[in-house]
Amino acid sequence: MDPFWQSLYQPYFQNKKVLLCVTGSIAAVKSLELCRTLLKLGAQVRVVLTDSALQFVTPLSFETFTGTHCFTNLWENTHGTKHIDLARWPDLVLIAPATANTIAKLAHGFADDLLSTELLAYTGPLFIAPAMNPSMWSHPATQANAATLTVRGASLIGPAEGDTACGEFGAGRMLEVKELIEVLAARIALPRTKGTALITLGPTRSSYDPVRYLTNRSSGKMGAAMAFALDRAGYEVHVVSGPCDVPLPHLSCVTRVSTAEEMLLECRKVFKGASVLIAAAAVLDYRFQETRGEKAKRADASLSVTLAPSIDVLFELNRERTDQQKTILGFAAETNDWLAHAAQKLKKKGCDAVFVNPVGGDTGAFDADDNEGWLLLQGGQPEKRFERTTKAALADEIVRSLGL
Ligand SMILES: Cc1cc2nc3c(=O)[nH]c(=O)nc-3n(C[C@H](O)[C@H](O)[C@H](O)COP(=O)(O)O)c2cc1C
Repeated sequence: MDPFWQSLYQPYFQNKKVLLCVTGSIAAVKSLELCRTLLKLGAQVRVVLTDSALQFVTPLSFETFTGTHCFTNLWENTHGTKHIDLARWPDLVLIAPATANTIAKLAHGFADDLLSTELLAYTGPLFIAPAMNPSMWSHPATQANAATLTVRGASLIGPAEGDTACGEFGAGRMLEVKELIEVLAARIALPRTKGTALITLGPTRSSYDPVRYLTNRSSGKMGAAMAFALDRAGYEVHVVSGPCDVPLPHLSCVTRVSTAEEMLLECRKVFKGASVLIAAAAVLDYRFQETRGEKAKRADASLSVTLAPSIDVLFELNRERTDQQKTILGFAAETNDWLAHAAQKLKKKGCDAVFVNPVGGDTGAFDADDNEGWLLLQGGQPEKRFERTTKAALADEIVRSLGL
């Protein structure tokens, strides 16, 4: 598992009690990885297998991962639990994979095995990841059963369209584990009632000719971490991203741009309605004054190019702010004299706060999963130091410090 991805999703699942129910589909083999991923994300996991699931996976595999008993039988009472005790334990129940049979049983209130009995007594959030042959999924009976469960408040995750194990193409495939976790995280986060947060992230580029460009080393990871922190804090997240490839919250709206000018243009479309702006993009300070339409040829003589200042996205947006924008935070990437440079930036841009992080060297912020720095606020308050930690944890601390 990519450690950065893990750090972003951990806060959604840390200490969450998840009852993972596995039913008799070939996709049950994915549930082992699902169980392991949930554990790595800090969840406490208990597992229930149906009789049919036992044809595909063994309790021992889950017991090895979870270190606890895997429940398979309504009649076993060797662990001091009453027949509905499991239903009282979880913060959430995830049925993955969910067969047509189990979906039908739940829709009609059957209680003839451990899983269906527990779920009839369960009243918390229920997530169902169907997995079946496309004809089974599209059958009116399955569709009606799934709709019944949705109306009762259950949340369907998938199924996805694609090749199924039976060799057919269509909707019926269980989502891949990573995707399933991303959707689940989006659904268990706080309701997004705090308004819109606009986040810029990544580098920008300036083209010299059709094959060459100027850019910087920004990975976009700090901005991505801010996007996740604001998603968790209850904001609708809108990201304007320079060219980079980072995970972003499942429900975020993402616009991709290349140049500083495009970034400003796209930000303006959202900024008016946003209550928060986090300017984490490393926008180029300079752009090529002239751009060539054809590839410049190599010559033996040296080549001079003229760079002109590029548009200052944070400065421009801050100038256009109204009462709607409660908080504007800029990021500063500096190699030296961090506090002095940050204070200068805070003054020049006029935004509410600047977070300055050291870049360059072996431990710089660019492309690392960890970061550190100082938060400077308008009004002459002393700067706040943030010790080195994951960008995900740091983003949460910044969000808290700004009272967002
Ligand atoms: C090899 C094999 C694969 C199966 N795959 C699926 C499946 O992906 N989805 C499904 O709904 N049923 C599938 N079934 C049928 C279910 O296992 C069957 O309906 C069973 O009664 C489900 O029981 P459960 O819901 O209690 O786990 C499969 C059966 C076999 C033999």
